[in-house]
Amino acid sequence: MCGIVGYIGGDQAAPILLSGLEKLEYRGYDSAGMAVYTGDSLQIAKSKGRLQVLHDLVDGGKKLPGSVGIGHTRWATHGKPSDINSHPQVSKSGKFAVVHNGIIENYQEIKQKLIQKDVNFVSETDTEVVAQLLEYYYKGDILDAFIKVISRLQGSYALGILCVDDPEKLYAVRKDSPLVVGLGEHENYVASDIPSILNFTRDFYRLKDNEVVELTRQGVKIFNMEKEPIEKELVHVDWDLSVAEKGGYEHFMFKEIMEQPKALRDTISPRIKDGRIVLDDVTLTAEQLKQFNRISIVACGSAYHVGVVAKYVIEKLTRIPVEVDVASEFRYRQPILDSNSLVIVISQSGETADTLAALRESKRLGARVLSIVNVVGSSIANDSDDVLYTWAGPEIAVATTKAYSTQLAVVYLLAIYMADLLGKLSAEEYDEYVRELQALPDKVEQALQNKEDIQYFASKHFSAKDIFFIGRNLDYAISMEGSLKLKEISYIHSEAYAAGELKHGTISLMEEGTLVVAIATHQQLLEKMMSNVIEVRSRGALVLGLTTEDNGQIEKDVDFLFTVPSACEIMRPSLAVIPLQLFSYYMASMKGCDIDKPRNLAKSVTVE
Ligand code: F6R
Repeated sequence: MCGIVGYIGGDQAAPILLSGLEKLEYRGYDSAGMAVYTGDSLQIAKSKGRLQVLHDLVDGGKKLPGSVGIGHTRWATHGKPSDINSHPQVSKSGKFAVVHNGIIENYQEIKQKLIQKDVNFVSETDTEVVAQLLEYYYKGDILDAFIKVISRLQGSYALGILCVDDPEKLYAVRKDSPLVVGLGEHENYVASDIPSILNFTRDFYRLKDNEVVELTRQGVKIFNMEKEPIEKELVHVDWDLSVAEKGGYEHFMFKEIMEQPKALRDTISPRIKDGRIVLDDVTLTAEQLKQFNRISIVACGSAYHVGVVAKYVIEKLTRIPVEVDVASEFRYRQPILDSNSLVIVISQSGETADTLAALRESKRLGARVLSIVNVVGSSIANDSDDVLYTWAGPEIAVATTKAYSTQLAVVYLLAIYMADLLGKLSAEEYDEYVRELQALPDKVEQALQNKEDIQYFASKHFSAKDIFFIGRNLDYAISMEGSLKLKEISYIHSEAYAAGELKHGTISLMEEGTLVVAIATHQQLLEKMMSNVIEVRSRGALVLGLTTEDNGQIEKDVDFLFTVPSACEIMRPSLAVIPLQLFSYYMASMKGCDIDKPRNLAKSVTVE
């Protein structure tokens, strides 16, 4: 996720910007830059790579002497990480410099219109359209031009802008992307979050969507989109800095669990236009799709569990046979692939060594590769024929949560898209799936509201030694993820089992008090699932049931029940996983584990 810091005051801006950007490093980034007024011109310094590269480029700030500037750390979305794509982005004549967080959804449309007006674009970013459009609309009043630009933008944005014509002002705005204004003595700030400038000030304005800010050394003016001044309440903060970096939460994992509704909105909504799924980034045609006689899904860990969900969903909707493998097995099992095979690769980091090797083996055998990746410009994204990005933003906690959820969302989008291309869905079915997709972020938000019940349950069971997760069909796929999450961060041994398979082995482990989490969201298999619950309860197991609101009748058959909002069958995994993530989190928290950095694990596994 990108970060913004802006400063206008009496001190040298560049060291202040570097210090603020350092505090935003935790959000993840792949390039950094800044623009500072020096004399009567805007000087830009930016570079791909760590903040240290920018630091060295400007000699710790010494090379940029001005006292007004904007700085940025970029997490690539549109266009790979590179010097050119880094922010600030600058308009044609160099008059405007812009830093931006978020995604401008209609940037292509604006870009095309500007190209027709002879504007040349130098970067691949969506941000450059803001800089170019500012210059296009500018007729001598920066605020007027800024408001006009904002009214053209769709999507999410926090923007900081400077204009050569008025070196005494800095402008900013936000919509669906955080931005705060910090107030000092004859100096003022903007920043993506409070902690990044907490060393400089403790007095803030929290901005609402489309409130436009004009900062000078003397003060801050805030306007609405009609250019009318707005009065805001000043907020004084006295938080501890390390807590503040995690958005007030104790752990990044919890923060990321809570960010899932937003991550889902960011992933789903730009891909639904006028009720149709539009996957701009996929060039597969119906003819090509019809050629595929099989789909292979390859991934590791939680991404593999997304693959298991995908197998059920894609087969159900498209009727194309799907196989799913863990990448470390796939690469050495001499997979049977050719030009009639589609390989779907799933990876948060885009750098997992086994997954990358499996991708390369697939390409060597002639298969077409489509990847679902969170990190733009990563090796897996670069080597794939088609890439569908998850817009989860950077994930810091080792245990994945929001990346997993957005991978599921992309799987639904892709499965519905392919089924439609193949003519497998009626218009009513298609519309219903699209409606369900659009409703998903709100339902996930609702599911997150019952966290105290799960916390209470965890407080009673965190000393458990073994926990079993059982389910059928998609619920089995979710059991695997629930079990992995628990093992990873709480170090409690656990097994995920297909409920119908219990009697072939695992049921011998059931004894008085064994904790079993039974996931039972699948409507058609509910009775079968409840038979398995009876089997384990009659052997002494204590059963925590997890189901959707419309299946509440199973309460009498389990010892405890958690419910989540209902959804169409294929999307229920997205809801069922929420209490499981929270359960693992609270169990690990009660045990005092190092939740964000579990022992022996790394976030990105770039070795075999
Ligand atoms: C589990 C987890 C890992 C990753 C796996 C693949 O919480 O995070 O199991 O899912 O290492 O990583 P990526 O998705 O980066 O390829």
